[in-house]
Amino acid sequence: MCGIIGYIGKDKALPRILSGLKSLEYRGYDSAGIAYVKNKKIIVQKEVGRISNLEKKINLEEDTYMGIGHTRWATHGEANKINSHPHTLGKFTIVHNGIIENYQSLKDELIKKGVKFVSETDTEVIAALLNENYKNEKDILKTILKTTKELVGSYALGIICTDDLEHIYATRCGSPLIMAQDKNGSYIASDVPAILNYTNKYYLLEEKEIAKISSEEIQVFDDNLQQVQKEMHTFEGSVETILLNGYEHFMLKEIHEEDTAFKNTLDYYVQNNKFKETMPDFKKYQSIHIVACGSAYYAGLVSKYIFEEYVNIPVKVELASEYRYQKNFYDSNTLVIIISQSGETADSLASLKMAKNAGIDTLAIVNVTSSSIAREAKYTLYTKAGVEIAVATTKAFIAQVTLLSLVALKMAQREDLLQEFKGIENYIQDLVNRDYLPYAKFLYQNNNIFFIGRGVDYALCLEGSLKLKEAAYINSVALAAGELKHGTISLIEDNTPVISVCTDASIALKTISNIKEVKARKAKVLLITNEDINDNFYDYKIDLPKLHPVVMSIITVIPMQLIAYEVAKLRGCDIDKPRNLAKSVTVE
Ligand code: M6R
Repeated sequence: MCGIIGYIGKDKALPRILSGLKSLEYRGYDSAGIAYVKNKKIIVQKEVGRISNLEKKINLEEDTYMGIGHTRWATHGEANKINSHPHTLGKFTIVHNGIIENYQSLKDELIKKGVKFVSETDTEVIAALLNENYKNEKDILKTILKTTKELVGSYALGIICTDDLEHIYATRCGSPLIMAQDKNGSYIASDVPAILNYTNKYYLLEEKEIAKISSEEIQVFDDNLQQVQKEMHTFEGSVETILLNGYEHFMLKEIHEEDTAFKNTLDYYVQNNKFKETMPDFKKYQSIHIVACGSAYYAGLVSKYIFEEYVNIPVKVELASEYRYQKNFYDSNTLVIIISQSGETADSLASLKMAKNAGIDTLAIVNVTSSSIAREAKYTLYTKAGVEIAVATTKAFIAQVTLLSLVALKMAQREDLLQEFKGIENYIQDLVNRDYLPYAKFLYQNNNIFFIGRGVDYALCLEGSLKLKEAAYINSVALAAGELKHGTISLIEDNTPVISVCTDASIALKTISNIKEVKARKAKVLLITNEDINDNFYDYKIDLPKLHPVVMSIITVIPMQLIAYEVAKLRGCDIDKPRNLAKSVTVE
C-alpha cells in the first residue's frame, strides 16, 4: 500500500527513483508521482494509473541528483492527478504512506489561517502543517518533530524543503520505512526491494525517528533530536528473488516456489525428524487466540483444527479488524498468535499491541524479517517463504500452515509425527506441475462460483475462494458444506459451478451427501479429493495424494491456487496487481 522511494547522490536520480517505484509496484497503487530538484527548483510530475504512464512523461536523463517518488493507493479522494503524491505546500514537498485520522480538524484550522488546499488528501494537510510550523521553528528537524506531534494516525514520510536542497528528510509512525547507502548515494524506501538493485544493506527507521540523508551520510535522530546509531541489516535474498526469472507472472513463479518455501520452513525448525532449538515450546499455554487478516486468517483457521486435534486446547481464530475492537477474554495462560506475511498489516499490528498491553504473551508468525509485527511480539517465528511479490499470497500461505502445524506438534510433544513432513516437497512439485487449464476453461465464464467443504476443508475452501475473487474478479462463496441447505442452495441452478474439497475421511461421506444435493439441482461439480471415489456424482475430479492429516492441509490448496491463476489469465486480469488491492495493507 503506497510506496515511497527517495534518492540523493552522485548519479542521475530519476532512473533510480523509477526503478525503486517499479520494485514497489507489488504493494498496490493507482497513481504515481515524483518530485526532483533541478536548478534549485523542485519539479513535480504525477500520472494516474501505472508507473509506465509516468515514465512516458519524464526524461530519465534529467540533470537531477535528488528526488522522491511515490505510488499512491487512494484513501482520501479518488485516484486522480491532483490527489496523487508528491504534495507541495509552500516550502515543503512530501510523499506519504498511511492515514492521518485528525486531518480534517487540522485542515479546518489551517484554512482559518488562510491556507489554500487543492487536493482532498490528508497528505496535503501534513505538507501545510510543516510549512506553517516552519515559520516559527525555522529549523527543519524541529519542524518535523513539532508537526508529527500534532498528527494522529499512521505515516511514513519523505520530505524535501526548498531551504535545504542538500538533504532528504524522513520519519515514520505505524508505516514502514528503511534507509540505505551505496557508493553513489543514499536512499529512503518503503521496503527493501526498492533498493536491491544497488545494495542489500539497509537500516530500519524506528517509530518517531527522523532521518536526514545526504549524498554521503545518513543521520538519524530520536524524538529529543539526539542523534542515534543505527544497526545495519543485510537482506538475505538476491535480486533474482524479486525478478520474474522467465515466469509470466509472480503469482505463478511463487506457486512454483512452494516446494522450497515448505522445505526451507521445515528445515529451519526441524532436523532429522527432531525439533531444533529454533522451535520454542509453548506448552505452558492453555488457550490460543489466532488473529490475522485475509489469507493469513485462513491459515490460522486451518491450524485451529491441528491445534485442537493434537494439543487438545481451545483455539479461537479472529479477524484482526474485529478482534481489536471487541471484548476479549484472556487468562494468564492464553497465547495470542498473530499471523502476517508482510508483518505490517495495520489491524494485525494493532491487535498485537492490544494483547501486549493487556499483559498477554504474543507470538508472531511472520515472513518479512524485522517487520513491525516481528519486532513487536514477545516471540517471533519466521516462515521461510522468501520474498513474495504477487498481491495474491500463495507460497507464504503454505509456509504459514507448515509452521503453525510444527508449533502445534511441538506443543503436543508429538515429535513422532515429524516424519510425516518428509518428502512433502515432492508432492507439492507434482501438484504444481499438473495442468489446470481444463478446469479453468470450465469455470472462467461464470460470475458465481461456490466452494463447499467440511472442517479443515472448509477453511481451505475459504482460501481457494479468496484467490478466485482477488486474482480473477469472480464472485465466489465458500460455505461449510452442511450449511448449504440453510439458505444458499437456493442459488444453485443448471450448471452452477461448485468446487468441493473432501480430504477428511472422517466426514467424507457427509460431504459427499452435500455434493449429491447440489448435483441433484444440476450444479456442475469439481471435486478435489484424496478419497478413493469412483461414483459419478461429480463432473471433474482432481486427485490428491493420501497423506497424514497433519500434512494434508499443506498441499490441498495448490490446485485451487493454480485454478485461480489460470482463470485470471483467461479473463485477462492484472494477475500480480489486482485492481483496488495492495500487498501490504498498512491502513485500517
Ligand atoms: O501481510 P499479511 O499476511 O498480514 O496480509 C494479510 C492479507 O492482507 C493478505 O493475506 C491478503 O488477504 C492476500 N492478498 C490474499 O491473497
